[in-house]
Amino acid sequence: MDSVVNVRSLVLAGVATGAAVLGYLAGRRAGQSQSFKSDFGGKSNPLVQYAINHSLREHPCLHKLRQMTLKLWRHRMLAAPEECQLLANIARAMGVRKAIEIGVFTGYNSLSMALALPQDGKLIACDITDTDVNLGRPFWKEAGVEHKIDVRIQPAANTLDELIAAGEAGTYDFVFIDADKSNYDIYYEKSLVLLRPGGLVAVDNVLWSGRVLTAESTWTADTAAIVRLNKKIHEDPRVNISMLTVADGVTLAFKC
Ligand SMILES: C[S@@+](CC[C@H](N)C(=O)[O-])C[C@H]1O[C@@H](n2cnc3c(N)ncnc32)[C@H](O)[C@@H]1O
Ligand SMILES: *[C@@H]1O[C@H](CO)[C@@H](O)[C@H](O)[C@H]1NC(C)=O
Ligand SMILES: *[C@@H]1O[C@H](CO)[C@@H](O)[C@H](O)[C@H]1NC(C)=O
Repeated sequence: MDSVVNVRSLVLAGVATGAAVLGYLAGRRAGQSQSFKSDFGGKSNPLVQYAINHSLREHPCLHKLRQMTLKLWRHRMLAAPEECQLLANIARAMGVRKAIEIGVFTGYNSLSMALALPQDGKLIACDITDTDVNLGRPFWKEAGVEHKIDVRIQPAANTLDELIAAGEAGTYDFVFIDADKSNYDIYYEKSLVLLRPGGLVAVDNVLWSGRVLTAESTWTADTAAIVRLNKKIHEDPRVNISMLTVADGVTLAFKC
């Protein structure tokens, strides 16, 4: 009986991972053939390379986690190190203690964020599958910050709802949205509920490998979701914003 249950949950986890990853990669492939995660072409610009070469300071465990992840076939989902370093610097400057990551993958940004949190800080790490999260865990442990990361495996919207139901609205300092694009607007709205005034929600992939500039007739559902949310956030009086052309584009929205 036990083994039946285990096989069943393994199969379910496998299906969930496969569906999420294939959906993500298909979404990206549908646009420019040369596109890859975390970049809309900026890295082919020598000045951008120069800026990265002269600013990236990767913690040894982050470096090892990235090298491990780059060997996976689905490595294009990996967040850009210069972007993660920026978010960690902002988190330190803001004194972030309570943070949420929506879309963990192998946990590169989760580790980067955990390193920026105080000893009693907490990161709620949301993903629908723990297959890749578990590949990253040993590096969190080696860095001595595993205790700060609280992994929640289920659709992220459910986890955000649970946090709101638990009375945690208005108590979070920082949210990073980096999961399924079709739910970005839902994540954005729930993040605004969970954030304290002055708190920050960072939305990843807002330039979507340049596809935000393509003709509407060529858009996938993911592209449409990103374009729609970009427009909405631009007009949203509830936040002060910057859209940065770092990596694949990241919007910083500070709750008023
Ligand atoms: C781009 S990757 C995240 C990259 C990660 N932030 C990093 O630092 O490398 C997107 C992740 O979102 C997860 N995901 C997809 N749909 C989801 C959902 N509905 N709820 C939670 N996570 C989801 C995928 O399993 C995948 O691990
Ligand atoms: C940046 O570093 C990479 C790797 O060391 C090197 O190949 C590239 O030429 C450097 N580019 C600039 C502009 O510094
Ligand atoms: C948003 O910007 C306004 C000025 O335009 C400022 O008064 C306010 O403090 C800012 N709020 C946040 C959370 O940054």
